Amino acid sequence: MHTLDLPAPDADALAHSAHLAAVLRERIAAHGPLPFSAYMERVLYAPGLGYYSAGSRKFGAHGDFVTSAELGPVFARCVAAALAPALRGLGHGADWLELGGGSGAFAEHALLALASRDALPACYRLLEPSAELRARQQARLRARLPDALFARVQWIDRPPETPWHGVLFANEVIDALPVTRFTLRGGEVFEEYVALDGEDRFVRQDRPADALVAGAVRHLEHRLGRPFDDGYRSELLPQLPYWMQAVAGTLQQGLALFVDYGYPRAEYYHPQRRNGTLRAFYRHRVHEDVFFHPGLQDLTASVDFSALAEAGAAAGLELAAYVPQGRFLQAAGVAAVHAEAAQGLDAAGLYALAQEIKRLMLPEAMGERFQAMLFARGMAAAPLPAELLLAELLLADRRARL
Ligand SMILES: C[S@@+](CC[C@H](N)C(=O)[O-])C[C@H]1O[C@@H](n2cnc3c(N)ncnc32)[C@H](O)[C@@H]1O
Repeated sequence: MHTLDLPAPDADALAHSAHLAAVLRERIAAHGPLPFSAYMERVLYAPGLGYYSAGSRKFGAHGDFVTSAELGPVFARCVAAALAPALRGLGHGADWLELGGGSGAFAEHALLALASRDALPACYRLLEPSAELRARQQARLRARLPDALFARVQWIDRPPETPWHGVLFANEVIDALPVTRFTLRGGEVFEEYVALDGEDRFVRQDRPADALVAGAVRHLEHRLGRPFDDGYRSELLPQLPYWMQAVAGTLQQGLALFVDYGYPRAEYYHPQRRNGTLRAFYRHRVHEDVFFHPGLQDLTASVDFSALAEAGAAAGLELAAYVPQGRFLQAAGVAAVHAEAAQGLDAAGLYALAQEIKRLMLPEAMGERFQAMLFARGMAAAPLPAELLLAELLLADRRARL
């Protein structure tokens, strides 16, 4: 899509974006081109200015994109149904940690569903780096949850530093981590930077990669069993193992579930995917211009699930299942969730519910593009949620493709 076809932002939004762009230009003028990952980090998370840290609407029909959690209550109810047996089995003091809670929609529906299943965590922790989203989550949950449930919610600034047990959950968080972009020239690894041209416009610039990035790309080639072609461009997350260790390293006993769009490594770095998976979302349009109104659009890249599996293993987690979202929801009992949610709905409500489930489940919608990766740690002693994990989920398991 050409960016000229995108809807124009209003004057306030334009001024906001111009402010962020000016800050970035000053930074580049003073210190030289920014690695793309640093550019992405700033346009998404610069305090008060970045896409996630400032007031742009982001989620839902009037925002830029819709996540599974934003479509309605079904996704959160299914995740709660899937993880409730483990949470109950882990017993008193088991916590739930949600990373990147967005608008708070997931937490709201998950907590209500866990309460109805008698599987409430001692504490529902939200780790949300964006102050603006944290305030939104607080307002939403305070308004919509009974006091006794709201009292269990706690916002934390960094991952738990002391050992804990329970459930870790993240939907569409890894796709929002700043990626390093790389390309190959004459067999050498180059890293993509953001520079300014003679007219002060942002432009991409490739520079010889440092040892960390070059090493990460060579490691990828080694795992793929082939070198990248000249001109091939893609992205990676060299920080993923450290991130995983940080968020899950203190989980002593429990499950960790990550849901996101992505592929196993061989598909992610398929020779024909010559320009990677990085894309921009603006008012439900997907395009490739990462410099379009910085701060007003989301930037995101798909997840390399093989890399996630390795990062989990390095952090001491055991890979329990890797399945497409549609199969995960099926295994979690989406049919029962549907039947329960349908009770008492009028025709319009039933139609909306059916549409929500279709979007979550259909392969061409979110059912196949999104994957669920489940890790376990120290669960041998606790009852595994056998009725879920061992039967349906393991039948659908695609770990062999990683
Ligand atoms: C695409 S949104 C998804 C929101 C929500 N999980 C959903 O499904 O609607 C990405 C979320 O991840 C958060 N995020 C970004 N980096 C993070 C990090 N390092 N740790 C935790 N959350 C992060 C963002 O602020 C935002 O809330």
